[in-house]
Amino acid sequence: MPFTVAIDGPAASGKGTIARAIARHFGFHHLDTGLLYRATGVLGGDPVEAARALTPADIERDDLRSAHAGQAASRVAAIPEVRAALVDFQRRFALQEPGAVLDGRDIGTVICPGAALKLYVVASDEVRAARRAAELGADPALMLDELRERDARDMARATAPLRPAEDAVLLDTSELSIDEAIARAIAEVARVRSG
Ligand code: CDP
Repeated sequence: MPFTVAIDGPAASGKGTIARAIARHFGFHHLDTGLLYRATGVLGGDPVEAARALTPADIERDDLRSAHAGQAASRVAAIPEVRAALVDFQRRFALQEPGAVLDGRDIGTVICPGAALKLYVVASDEVRAARRAAELGADPALMLDELRERDARDMARATAPLRPAEDAVLLDTSELSIDEAIARAIAEVARVRSG
């Protein structure tokens, strides 16, 4: 059985950085599942058709990181048929040896409920807005509105809403540097692997 790490949390909480670092440290595969929804959102047309026809090249587009793509993603992500179309790809990805890290909103609750480790990464709204503003060269106040709007939609949707799995380990990165957050996450993986 390959080792799966499920990382979920709200927008810009640090889950992508932590997921990449865990994958690098342990030699695991990494999938940023947000890219699947971002690509589905920016492709336009019928989102269900777009999700069903998604190709690996679509998730490598260089316009997927924008706030516009994030909003488009969270709108299409509320459509149950879009989510259903993306399940198999994510579950197959998780089966790769020697292990995989997937980050998103529903990895621990829906995609990989049997994951060896589930992390739920959070940070204060202000810290998340400041981080995302620095990343995108955008205004922090506008980012704060954007993240809150997206989080509210992600938490309120009927299908696979954003919430921690019951057995998730909470990691609050508000007061942590990137290196500290990564060190804590790696320690959690090491604890589970040795256990
Ligand atoms: O990087 P950030 O946390 O801002 O966003 P992301 O992980 O790229 O996700 C973009 C949007 O896709 C989210 O706001 C969710 O609406 C949706 N998403 C989802 O519904 N389920 C996932 N597993 C991943 C993303």
